[in-house]
Amino acid sequence: MHKSENWGTRIGVILAVAGSAVGLGNFLRFPGQVAQNGGGAFMIPYFIALLILGIPLCWAEWTMGRYGGVRGFHSSPGIFSVLCKTPKARYMGTIGLLIPLIIYMYYVLIEAWCLGYAISYLDGSLMPANNPGDYGVFFDNFIGANSDGALLTAEHNWFLGVLLVTFGLNFFFLYRGITKGIEAFCRVVMPIMAMLAIIVLIRVLTLGTPDPAHPDQNVINGLGKLWNPDFSKLANPSTWLAASGQIFFSLSVGFGVIINYASYLRKKDDIALSGLTASSMNEFFEVCLGGLITIPAAFIFLGNAVPTNSTFALGFVALPEVFAHMPMGQLFGFLWFFMLFIAAITSSLSMLQPVIAFFEEGLGLKRHASAAILGLISMLGAGFVVYFSKGTVAMDIMDFWVGTVLLVVLALIQAILYGWVLGIEKGEKELHRGSHIRIPHFIQLILKYVTPLFLLIIFFMFITGEDAAKSVKAIQDNPVAKMTMMFILVIFGFLLLMVHIAGIRWEKEGRFDHLLEEEDD
Ligand code: ALA
Repeated sequence: MHKSENWGTRIGVILAVAGSAVGLGNFLRFPGQVAQNGGGAFMIPYFIALLILGIPLCWAEWTMGRYGGVRGFHSSPGIFSVLCKTPKARYMGTIGLLIPLIIYMYYVLIEAWCLGYAISYLDGSLMPANNPGDYGVFFDNFIGANSDGALLTAEHNWFLGVLLVTFGLNFFFLYRGITKGIEAFCRVVMPIMAMLAIIVLIRVLTLGTPDPAHPDQNVINGLGKLWNPDFSKLANPSTWLAASGQIFFSLSVGFGVIINYASYLRKKDDIALSGLTASSMNEFFEVCLGGLITIPAAFIFLGNAVPTNSTFALGFVALPEVFAHMPMGQLFGFLWFFMLFIAAITSSLSMLQPVIAFFEEGLGLKRHASAAILGLISMLGAGFVVYFSKGTVAMDIMDFWVGTVLLVVLALIQAILYGWVLGIEKGEKELHRGSHIRIPHFIQLILKYVTPLFLLIIFFMFITGEDAAKSVKAIQDNPVAKMTMMFILVIFGFLLLMVHIAGIRWEKEGRFDHLLEEEDD
């Protein structure tokens, strides 16, 4: 049997889970969502989603993860089989591998954009003195948005190099394992990331009114631009959907990640307080840092021209414009994009771990073989997104169907597994084993009744909503969108086959035999 790994320290696991949660979602996606969905009013559905979905589901994932890990499994196919006491449940667990793997394929690319921009600030090529001209044009050219295959031309060679370095770093820390790789890395870089974000925040909040010709473009109005509430947006269901989607993406809930990380805990390690701490850290980074930097900064320099309708336009187009005008903009530009890169890498690492854990425990592969196979598959996927760069169609399809809709499906499966299969009585007992705090009983009732219902409603709203209609139309009309969908299905088919093979091995080894008669204490 594969030798099980454990986290080294309690703060290590908290920082690793928080590292997975804090990412591009906090700094780029969140401010865009707030600005588009009613400013301060967005925080009402946002906090409701946090309390009804986010935090309870985090606790459920931590609980089920540790439960499965103690019984020898670290990947969702194995953990689901343990929970259901039927090996067939492993097939549902395949979704817990598909999600992180597909998201990694495009997330790693955005991560490389961040590193590429950080380097471009370091060598000054993004500063006006070196004349990058229009930052929108620069960005489109940088990501190859104008034509498919653009990133494979000689002009973009250095970006491919940056992507390879990004890939290499991810696999280096992954290969080193849970304690020496992920935990050690997160312990060092999480405080650095917080420091960098706070430095950039202080710079933004002390900008005052930099242009006397535009006295209204000041910090207070910049904050108002983002946070002044527009309560009329609350009547629109898409605001509620956006808030729930943001909570999932940001907390890494329904990613198959927390359940995997929690599986490396020991039987009596605290999960109640650790889960709450990691989620709270994520909220601090999101609301207090992410929510105060990008849009206020952009407003101070660009006024009402600040683009709020696209996640990336804000981060990669508006902010370089801001740094071009800001005193010491080159330094702050570098710090900002480097900080984003760190935030992204601690998240992307967490997307690889569930899959490598599965290859090891399911197929009996050694670490180097697992890493090699995972490297090949994820490179194939990232290569697909790199090649089909025009209009970021491939990336958008993956982000919508996997990074948004499928998250809700996995969260629903997990809520049912926790509330109805494991059962809230047993779940509550598990959650409190070794716990440093007591979670009120009504959270269990929420998990059993309210969360699944809420998730079902969200799921139907997503698939009958405007975004799904647009995406389906793109799949019908655009061959790249169609191919992307087929690519996702091929990867799903491959993973299902691997899970099937793993299941045969596990049954042969009698890995589930003891579960039926086991005493839980
Ligand atoms: N939770 C990660 C993020 O916010 C994926 O970017």
